[in-house]
Amino acid sequence: MTFDLVAHDPQSKARAGVVHTAHGAIQTPIFMPVGTAGTVKAVQQRDLNDDIKAQIILGNTYHLYLRPGLDVLRAAGGLHKFNGWDRPILTDSGGYQVYSLSGTRKIKEEGVKFRSHIDGSQHLFSPEGVMDIQRTIGADIMMAFDECTPWPCEYDYAARSLDMTHRWLKRCIERFDSTEGHYGYEQTLFPIVQGSTFKDLRVKSAEFIAEQGREGNAIGGLSVGEPAEQMYEMTELVCDILPQDKPRYLMGVGTPANILENIALGVDMFDCVMPTRNARNGMLFTTQGIMNITNKKWQLDFEPIDRELGGYVSTFYSRSYVRHLFQSQEMLGPQIASIHNLSFYLWLVQQAREQIVAGTFREWKDKMVKQVMTRL
Ligand code: GUN
Repeated sequence: MTFDLVAHDPQSKARAGVVHTAHGAIQTPIFMPVGTAGTVKAVQQRDLNDDIKAQIILGNTYHLYLRPGLDVLRAAGGLHKFNGWDRPILTDSGGYQVYSLSGTRKIKEEGVKFRSHIDGSQHLFSPEGVMDIQRTIGADIMMAFDECTPWPCEYDYAARSLDMTHRWLKRCIERFDSTEGHYGYEQTLFPIVQGSTFKDLRVKSAEFIAEQGREGNAIGGLSVGEPAEQMYEMTELVCDILPQDKPRYLMGVGTPANILENIALGVDMFDCVMPTRNARNGMLFTTQGIMNITNKKWQLDFEPIDRELGGYVSTFYSRSYVRHLFQSQEMLGPQIASIHNLSFYLWLVQQAREQIVAGTFREWKDKMVKQVMTRL
C-alpha cells in the first residue's frame, strides 16, 4: 500500500491524497460505509458502486468470524469473492465490537475471552488470532487488536489499558510480518492510537504508534461520549505527531460536522454507522440540513429528497413518497434512506477534497458545518 499526498489546504491542516491498494485507489479524504457482516445494511453492491460511489467499505472481524465463519470465507476465496465487492475492504479487529456487543468478556494479557452474541458460545480473541482471521477475510487494510476505553475513564485504567494495547500491537506486528496473504495480494496493518481524553497518554501513544513505521495509522477511543471539543483536541494533538506522509484514519466518526472538522485537523479516513443506522430510523442527511422524513411536514412535499446531490435515489424519489414508505413500514423506505445518506456522506468528502485542492477548504468548511447540521 502506498499513499500520495496531492494537496494541502493553506488555511487548515486538511490534506488531499490517494491511497493505493491491491484492489484499487482511494481518493482521500474518504468516508467508508460500514458493512459489518459483509453487507452494507440494506444496500446492494451495485448501488454502492453506481449511486453512492463508495471507494472502500468496512467489514468486522468479530461478526464475520462468528458468521459465516472462517471455513466459509476461506472456501469462498476471501470476503471480496464472497460478497462480490472487488474494491478495497478494511476490517476492524474486533477491538471495539467485543466490548460493545458481547455481554460477558474477560480482558487479560493473553487476549479477550467473550461469549458470542449469537449463540452464547465461548471464544478467545488474541492479537495473533485476530491477525490470522483478517488474513483469512482478506481485507486490504487490517486493524490492530486494541482496547477501546469507555468514556469517562479513570486515568489509571486508561494508562494501564494503553500499555496493554501497545504490547498487543507488538504481537500483532510480529504475527503480521511473519505471515502472508492467502489470496496472492498484499494486505497492510494499521496500528491504533488510544489514551482516552488524557493529553499525555495520547502523546505517548501517538509517538509509540509513529515509531512503528507502518503504512497508515488510526486513532481510536474517540466519539464514545466525550464532548466534540475534546475529540477535536485529541485528534489535533495526535495528527501533529503521526507521520505526515501516511494516511490517518479516525475510527467511528461521525456526524457530517465531525467529519469536516476532523478533515481540517489532518484526518484522511472515516467510518461510522450513523448514515445507515439513522437512515433506518428515517433521519436523512441532505446538502441543506437534516430531515426527519417521518415528520408530517413532508407529507405533501413532492420535491426530490435532495436535488443537489445528483445521484439516482436522491433525485428520483419524493420526500412525500419516502415518508409514506416509512409510515407504512415498507422495506423500500430504509433502503432508499440508506443509499441516500451514504450518497450524501460520499458527496461531502468529495466536495471537501475539491475544496482542499482548490485551496478554499477552510471557508467552505465553516459554512458547510452550519448548513448540513441545520434541522429542517
Ligand atoms: N471503532 C471505533 N472506535 C474504535 C476503537 O477505538 N478501536 C477499534 N478497534 N475500533 C473502533
